Amino acid sequence: MRSSRILVTGGAGFIGSNVVDACLAEGHDVAVVDDLSTGSSANVPGAARLYRVDIRSAELHDVFRRERPEIVSHHAAQISVSRSVEDPMFDAAVNVLGSLNVLEAARRHGVRRVVFASSGGAIYGEPDQPAAEERHPCRPRSPYAVAKLAVEHYLEGYRATAGLETVVLRYANVYGPRQDPRGEAGVIAVFIDAIRAGRTPIIYGDGEQIRDFVYVGDVVRANLAAQARTLASQEPVAFNIGTGHGTSVNALWRALATIADSPIEPKREPARAGDLLRSVLDPRLAREVLGWTAEMDLVAGLRRTWDWFASRTDAADAVGGRR
Ligand SMILES: NC(=O)c1ccc[n+]([C@@H]2O[C@H](COP(=O)([O-])OP(=O)(O)OC[C@H]3O[C@@H](n4cnc5c(N)ncnc54)[C@H](O)[C@@H]3O)[C@@H](O)[C@H]2O)c1
Repeated sequence: MRSSRILVTGGAGFIGSNVVDACLAEGHDVAVVDDLSTGSSANVPGAARLYRVDIRSAELHDVFRRERPEIVSHHAAQISVSRSVEDPMFDAAVNVLGSLNVLEAARRHGVRRVVFASSGGAIYGEPDQPAAEERHPCRPRSPYAVAKLAVEHYLEGYRATAGLETVVLRYANVYGPRQDPRGEAGVIAVFIDAIRAGRTPIIYGDGEQIRDFVYVGDVVRANLAAQARTLASQEPVAFNIGTGHGTSVNALWRALATIADSPIEPKREPARAGDLLRSVLDPRLAREVLGWTAEMDLVAGLRRTWDWFASRTDAADAVGGRR
């Protein structure tokens, strides 16, 4: 396969850094732009050049000038839905204007393709179907979701006017190694962290809310396909990246408690305003067009994630022990 110059925004974060690893493993030349607001330089391998730059800044254009990327994988974002509700101006500054700055840099510096990390869990709202298809009406309920949808529209505009190739990946609930348990997005990381620390986790509402949990390794493969696939002009460019299977938060908790052999009982608190009852994505289009399908079984993926958190704590203990 031909090697490409790839710039990953948000490449020091959970999903972005896993994408960086896979791009390097495929022999691509990789640069990362990340302001390290939630990401960590420890997630970025030495083989990738890390620029600590805010996607909203003018400096971003200097990075594009120097790196001349052919492909941009745009993962940098303010990812907290509740923060977007509390401070929609900040959310829009990063997620709309920052993304627009990325698109402008891409247009001016001859980027061929932009792959955008959107959110199927956010933009469809409460689905009319058991699993939302891409043509499901978009009913964003938070500023975060509005911003993701706005960027999808900007991408369409740049595709039409600047000839930029664009691919939108609408992720379900992504989980796996390197997810930040302090973030609100990852219930699995939050639960694992609570079990390991001996804290009581909280389940909001009756716990019967349904989510589509997709393993980060599968999401990474979707990114590689989106970067590489030649798409004919009439082909769709937005794809759900989920498993098509729903799991309740209660069932998720039971699976994790079994893996961890934990006797902890979660605390129950009232449902949070704006939380969806159900969010499952229909992934058939990604299979047909990108040849992608999620492969990781949930229990196997939970085990891997559990083991990764355990190895991290063991390593930290070992370092602490040497001091
Ligand atoms: N995790 C999920 O379940 C999920 C679901 C749907 C969509 N997404 C999207 O996937 C992308 C990656 O999410 P993640 O879960 O890996 O989150 P993350 O917080 O681990 O990664 C985001 C990265 O962007 C960086 N960043 C934030 N603001 C920036 C700025 N102004 N300039 C430069 N860098 C900045 C952060 O430091 C971080 O490294 C985001 O766009 C997110 O909206 C994630």
